[in-house]
Amino acid sequence: MQKQRLDKFLSNQLNISRADAKELIKKRLVSVNGDNAKLFDMKIDPERDAVSSEGKKITYREHIYIMLNKPAGVVCATRDKLSETVLELIPEELRREGLFPAGRLDKDTVGFVLITDDGGFAHDILSPKKHVDKKYFAVLEKNITEHDIDLLKSGITIDGGEKCLPAEAVTAGKQNEIVLTLREGKYHQVKRMAEALGNKVLYLKRINIGGLALDEKLKEGECREITAAELEILKKREKN
Ligand code: URA
Repeated sequence: MQKQRLDKFLSNQLNISRADAKELIKKRLVSVNGDNAKLFDMKIDPERDAVSSEGKKITYREHIYIMLNKPAGVVCATRDKLSETVLELIPEELRREGLFPAGRLDKDTVGFVLITDDGGFAHDILSPKKHVDKKYFAVLEKNITEHDIDLLKSGITIDGGEKCLPAEAVTAGKQNEIVLTLREGKYHQVKRMAEALGNKVLYLKRINIGGLALDEKLKEGECREITAAELEILKKREKN
């Protein structure tokens, strides 16, 4: 692993400024392999060296992966002049430089948004070539017929003549509720599929990405880090 300056490592891993990282070192609050660190620019191997700050061991993570249950009214962007962004919902302890949402939901759509600072991983999750499944629960204005389900399953043509890949589609509970699994991510896809059926989406929630379900314990607006085991599920899918 490439070596890193100690102050940069602290700043990244603890999500503090470089100045604050230097301050910790200056106050002799940082140790490397049991010895008090004195130099800001001391080179450390993030994977091998044991670094502690204020007596607490820092567990090195190259990247961070967050599962957010997005509420309506919030935009999937890193910044926005008018609306609150998904990044603003991330608590201080999970914030890092370079975080961004890997994939977008509409402002009025709720549910699973993956937020990371790992560009390569996000690219794979989003790449149409990788066919990472996204599952949605939708409430429609009108009831869904058997014929609608057949059309969705065989690959429906939406406005502009765009043909969708075959989707998994099952009615869920009520006759106007559907669970749709898409292998692609066209702009406003679920809403446009509903329109192609002469129907309309009233409520839309993403409930699963790449086989990883949104944690039901997360209330809207809440997030948590994705565990190593969950990350494995996602990484396996992106190789398919
Ligand atoms: N399809 C939509 O129409 N909107 C979303 O936010 C996601 C999928």
